[in-house]
Amino acid sequence: YKRVTVKSLVEMKANKEKISMLTAYDYTMAKIVDGAGVDVILVGDSASNVMAGHETTLPITLDQMIYHASSVIRAIDRALIVVDLPFGSYQSDPKEALRSAIRIMKESGGHAVKLEGGKEVKESIKRILNAGIPVMGHLGLTPQSIYKFGTYTVRAKEEAEAKQLKEDALMLERAGCFAIVLEKVPAKLAKEVAESLTIPIIGIGAGNGVDGQVLVTHDMLGMTHEFNPRFLRRYLDLYTEMTNAFQQYVADVKSVDFPNDNEQY
Ligand code: KIV
Ligand code: NA
Repeated sequence: YKRVTVKSLVEMKANKEKISMLTAYDYTMAKIVDGAGVDVILVGDSASNVMAGHETTLPITLDQMIYHASSVIRAIDRALIVVDLPFGSYQSDPKEALRSAIRIMKESGGHAVKLEGGKEVKESIKRILNAGIPVMGHLGLTPQSIYKFGTYTVRAKEEAEAKQLKEDALMLERAGCFAIVLEKVPAKLAKEVAESLTIPIIGIGAGNGVDGQVLVTHDMLGMTHEFNPRFLRRYLDLYTEMTNAFQQYVADVKSVDFPNDNEQY
């Protein structure tokens, strides 16, 4: 795919090609992620944690999400850019949801929006889709509802919640969502959902029976040390690598090793 579209993702699922997705919140990171061939870049509201240092995703604003998304958009040649609708920008009513989605599309140039929830956001999703804006769903552990859940543990282990999740996934497909993120649910349930739908299911902590995977880039690079869920595979230990580099810099400055004769005018 020269340029990934919402249509390419559904084709990838039909062709049994797994979909790769990572987060980015800034130009420099997005350029590297896009250049490496990652199919979908999510401008996640995890920026609230990763970029701003908040404990939850709730505080980040629509304006801040638009700032991050516009920075990412300027970097990319190929990836599909999905932007999270932040907490408080879509829950009140479908008109507000549409207004927020329109702002993201107009002011950032993103290609699609993602919002959390099932039947409670059905009307909002329909309104956004009616305006021609592609929507990605998000079910399972939905971090904007963390104060309702009380914990970040695995969702839908009980039959009732699993049944509701399956119904919500089917509803999202019927409403017209082009894909769904399934976060932290049993692998068996995620596989069942993926097999019963034609739109792709992108998992995070949802096993390998789904149609694609997403991770928070800073986590998979090992830049974060405190966050250690089972589903997180670290591809680098950048926390250590960067600490070593910064310590070496301090030492070089202190010892007047830096700058040397070739590093000055
Ligand atoms: O905000 C985010 O990074 C997300 C992914 C973890 C799916 O929603
Ligand atoms: Na998110």
